[in-house]
Amino acid sequence: MRRILLDNIAAGMKIAKPLYSADGKILLNAGLEVKDSYVRRLRELDLSYIYVEDELTADIEVPDVVSEKARIEAVNTAKNIMDKVKVGKMVDAGQAKKTANNLVDELCRNKGTLVNFIDLRTRSDYLFNHSVSVCILSIMTGISMGYDELRLRDLGVGALLHDIGKIMLDQELLNKSDRLTAKELEETRQHSQLGFDILRKNPDISLLSAHCAFQHHERYDGSGYPRGLSGCEIHEFAQVVALADSYDALTSDVSYRAAVPVYEALAIIANESGSNFNPTVVDNFTSNIAIYPIGTVVRLSNNEIGVVVDISKEVKHKPVVRIIADEYQQRIDRIVEIDLSKNSRLYIADVVER
Ligand SMILES: [Fe+2]
Repeated sequence: MRRILLDNIAAGMKIAKPLYSADGKILLNAGLEVKDSYVRRLRELDLSYIYVEDELTADIEVPDVVSEKARIEAVNTAKNIMDKVKVGKMVDAGQAKKTANNLVDELCRNKGTLVNFIDLRTRSDYLFNHSVSVCILSIMTGISMGYDELRLRDLGVGALLHDIGKIMLDQELLNKSDRLTAKELEETRQHSQLGFDILRKNPDISLLSAHCAFQHHERYDGSGYPRGLSGCEIHEFAQVVALADSYDALTSDVSYRAAVPVYEALAIIANESGSNFNPTVVDNFTSNIAIYPIGTVVRLSNNEIGVVVDISKEVKHKPVVRIIADEYQQRIDRIVEIDLSKNSRLYIADVVER
């Protein structure tokens, strides 16, 4: 399979990964051939990318770090918990822990798999999808940092609920696409304190998890909020969540800008290592992310076009690429693969969004 922009879907293409609605129902199943009559409706789907397959890429599998089922369950749990808190109920700590435990189990089982994409998510319900992505990315980082299961669970609960304070804010303010006024910015920044207050009230939630909400906008160099803490004054869990939160926001379509490609987001984060983020956390975080995820279409330095088919964890910027078009952009019909890690002349020049 290969990944294309949803806008470029065309008749005759075959869907390679099932698409789910927000409530976990299958919208479109894998194997379905796109017909002229539903191209328009497909383009209206609330998604950025879609996986399709053709003869040249049919055997390329994109491994998931977490099953789609577990991810959707987690999104629903996040929504349930936050909806209840909105009407004045307590956080369901049992549900949050169960979800975090599930994700910890799956991620420990799939240890070594790089994050290819956790972005077959819909653009609506951003808060809940974002919460789960941050939870997954945080747990992966915690695993790399050698945390035991109990710490992973507390980190997972904190990451899942890091933005719970937002549920108490004016929702129009959260979705505003224009620049926020100073007063509005001040108001949105209240969500860390609000979230902390919600979580610490609950005796079944670890105070460490509550601190993820409180401190996830603090920055390593002291430039964050609400208290301007720096270095180890910020709990390590919150340092992990801060990074996962920033990375996921960068790679998502949000109301005020389109998603940034993975390689660009990783470059931004590397640039902020030591200032906004703890370098150890950055290293552990990035070790889990595929710079050029499997299924990505890339242009090589010799102008050939290929699809990423395999990545070694050691040389992530030089994956194995299957060529699909020659340097004159003519499709080729036999399988040629190049392992860039073994080829010192060739490199990836560009990601082709098509
Ligand atoms: Fe936040």
